[in-house]
Parts: sequence; C-alpha cells; structure tokens
Amino acid sequence: MMLCYLDGNFLPLEEARVSPLDRGFLFGDGAYEVIPVYSRRPFRLAEHLARLENTLRALRLPNPHPAGAWEEIVARIVAGNPWDDQSVYLQVTRGADRMRRHAFPAHIRPTVFLMSEALATPDQEQLEHGVAAVSAVDYRWLRCDLKTISLLANCLLRQQAVDAGCAEAVLFRDGFLTEGAASNIFAVRDGVLLAPPKSHLALPGITYDIILELAARHALPHAVREIREEEARGADELWMTSSTKEVLPITTLDGQPVGSGRPGECARRMHGWYREFKDTVMRHG
Ligand code: PDD
Repeated sequence: MMLCYLDGNFLPLEEARVSPLDRGFLFGDGAYEVIPVYSRRPFRLAEHLARLENTLRALRLPNPHPAGAWEEIVARIVAGNPWDDQSVYLQVTRGADRMRRHAFPAHIRPTVFLMSEALATPDQEQLEHGVAAVSAVDYRWLRCDLKTISLLANCLLRQQAVDAGCAEAVLFRDGFLTEGAASNIFAVRDGVLLAPPKSHLALPGITYDIILELAARHALPHAVREIREEEARGADELWMTSSTKEVLPITTLDGQPVGSGRPGECARRMHGWYREFKDTVMRHG
C-alpha cells in the first residue's frame, strides 16, 4: 500500500480522489516540489519549502501550511511508505471552483497532495557510461524559474528525447543553454565548470546550488555565466543534475560525443563529493 496525503487526510494512494473542477486539473494551476529522501531523512527540505513558498507567492496562491506543518506531513508520508530512499512529490493547486473560469475565484481552498515513490537514482551502468541527450529549442514560457505543475512543454521535450532513445533534452533559447526538460545542465570547458546564471529562463535547482557549493568548497574552478550553444556543443563535459538524477554525465548530444564520449574527470569528482556530502548531512543532520 502506498500512503498519500490529500487535504488533511492520510490514505492509500488508490483511494485518493480530487474534483474534476480542480484548477490543477483544468488549468495546470498549481505548484509542486520533488524532495529526495535518503535513509528516511528528507534532503534539503528547508530549501525545497523555500522554493515552494516562492512559487506560490508568484502564483498568488497562499501557502496553506507553515514550514513546521509541511515537515510533519512529509515525515508521516516518509514513515508510511516502504522504501528507505524515496522521492516525495508535493503539490498545491488553487483548488476546486464551482465552474470553469480563468480568473481566480475568491474563497476557494487550495488542494494539497503528497505521495512518494522509491528514489530511482542513476544506476551503475549510467554512471559509468553516461547518458545520451538530444538538443531542442526551448519553447517554454518565460517563468521557468517557477516550479509549476503546468509541465506540458517539459513533457513534450522529454518525450522528444525518449523517442530518440535519449535520457534528456538539452534546451537552447536564442543561442544560449537554458536547462534540461527536467534537470539543470552544467558544462565543463578547459577544466572550468560552467553554470548558466539563475534567471526567469530556468528552474533554480536545489541540486544546482549544491553543485556550486561543492565546487567552491573543493576549489574546482567554476563560473556562473551565459553559455553559448556552440560552447555547450563543444564542451569537454556536460552534466544533468536534479534531485533524483544527482549528477549524471551526458556523453552524447545529438549522436555526437561530448568531449571524449566518456564521463569526464570533473563529473567523477563531483559525483564523489556529492555522495560524500549527502552521507555527511544524513549522518549529522
Ligand atoms: N525536476 N529544471 C527542471 C525543469 C526540473 O524539472 C528540475 C527537477 C530541475 C532540477 O531541480 P532540483 O535540483 O531542485 O531537483 C531543473 C524534478 C525532479 C521533477 O520534475 O521530477
């Protein structure tokens, strides 16, 4: 049995029901987070809740819970599901109105939903060989900094990658790298780790922040700056990062090898630092 949370109740996932008039269903009107859990402890939960708060504020949707209440709900979901390592999905929609209308109705209650899955981090084969990616034009809206549930463009782009036998779509807008369909993208050129700056064009990844913190801590040369498409295509290394993929090397782009076509040295080191950091945090809180 998978335990979920819906509007104040903990119940088996297969019993959960929401109204067809829910604005999440009709308009994709809501915010979400995906929180990794290792050994039953949520990782960087405060940062995920801060990003949720930021998305909700931008959507003009009142946050239904203070941080402490969110922590409690997450803790009960983690405890009530069978895996030690999980990925907790949390979603808040504007709620169900009495009819379909675009403008925000007054006085409706947000719908709050959480569920969990086994955390599927990359397997040994993916880490050893890296994954293939395709490039695509980033045709999403101009508020990609918000983690909204309106993910149709991201789904189309990820499906484009899957149709080509690839793990991710690397997105370019106006000649610059933005991010992946469901990940942030880093490049390495001449031993320098390059990260696109935070802007309205990409999600401020929690993992992105960790990568830059680890680069600083371990004195890995790095720069946060715009990355031109040719620079990304000619990079020695490309990585995708996210809460579930952690740090995963992209070794081919559009069928062409990235650098040597094998995971690079920087990726190997960063993956080690990431694991070590995560283990330390999990041990000492
Ligand atoms: N996706 N960019 C996009 C578009 C994403 O969807 C994600 C994560 C990221 C990485 O963010 P973080 O490091 O905070 O996970 C970047 C999640 C995992 C998802 O939608 O399933």
